[in-house]
Amino acid sequence: MTRNHNFSAGPAVLPESVLLEAREALWDYQGSGIGIMECSHRTKLYEAVVQSARDRIRRLMKLTDDQEVLFLQGGASTQFYMVPANLLRGGRAAYIETGHWAEKAIAEGKRYGTVDVVWSGKSTGFDRVPKPSEWSVQKDTRYLHYTSNNTIYGTQFTEVLDSPVPLICDASSDVMSKPIEGSKFDLYYAGAQKNLGPSGVTVVVIRKSLFEQCDPDLPTMMRYKVHADNESMYNTPNTWGIYFLERVCAWIEGQGGLTSIEAANQRRARALYAEIDRTGFWRGMCERGSRSVMNVTFTSGNADWDTTFHTEATKHGLVGLKGHRIAGGLRASLYNAQTDAAVAALVAEMQEFERTHG
Ligand SMILES: Cc1ncc(COP(=O)(O)O)c(C=O)c1O
Repeated sequence: MTRNHNFSAGPAVLPESVLLEAREALWDYQGSGIGIMECSHRTKLYEAVVQSARDRIRRLMKLTDDQEVLFLQGGASTQFYMVPANLLRGGRAAYIETGHWAEKAIAEGKRYGTVDVVWSGKSTGFDRVPKPSEWSVQKDTRYLHYTSNNTIYGTQFTEVLDSPVPLICDASSDVMSKPIEGSKFDLYYAGAQKNLGPSGVTVVVIRKSLFEQCDPDLPTMMRYKVHADNESMYNTPNTWGIYFLERVCAWIEGQGGLTSIEAANQRRARALYAEIDRTGFWRGMCERGSRSVMNVTFTSGNADWDTTFHTEATKHGLVGLKGHRIAGGLRASLYNAQTDAAVAALVAEMQEFERTHG
């Protein structure tokens, strides 16, 4: 079987070596005579997987002792309400609105208190992220929430925000894509299905001091402290998801860590943006200074041509290039496991399309 070049926004391309290893583990995990998915979470064999996943995340994100790593379920969308349910409690929170997922987080925040949208890119179609000078938060704000990479529109913050209040980040689509100053975040969360593995597990990093501020009367499964006290095993966790995520983190460390991963991601993104900018036939859909290294959005400026390009590229084994339905155009997701060969094939496809349509 020939594998396609997968540009999907998530679930997305995964490292081939991890896929092959997981295939084995599905049948017989480390010679145990049972597959990893058949393994109880209450065994030494599986506890070692969770511990290793936590340790690798701690190392990769340079976390400090006062930060906990949790593996939760319900996707990043569950964090949209779990964050304010635990921490907002009728108070005031600041949100930066840089796209669809930020809007969703804001809508959930409003259920639990006052939400100040301190900056919004809505009026220009979410084509950029703000500069630090463009937003500020009031003193009595419980936390500031932002989305580090906007998967649908293809914009990304280059720096961690400098916040005077606890900082909360939805990093679902750029987690582990470059060195992370993990200790700067009071709460950091990411669904696994782009850079870390399959869907169904969400990494949450939380500063322990926040537990004191969390609502103790929430339903049990909504309380961060319950999951922390039970080492993410209060109930049956997503054992497959955590297994896979642990292997992907091992792969990242094996590549030389996040500095090497970043260099490879930058190289691929540069190659694709260079093609987009080469003649003016293709154009990027965001301001240059805000362009994402993970999700590259582009268009020919003609919706029919974009559809034709997508159809032809799919026929040639380049899949997942259709832009999100609310943004239109085309989108190539270049997550950590993307290959240089895939980007080269996409660039060649774009050049050929320009030759025949330009
Ligand atoms: C930045 C971001 N946040 C949140 C979500 C929602 O994640 P989930 O479907 O895991 O709830 C997505 C999904 O693509 C995303 O890209």
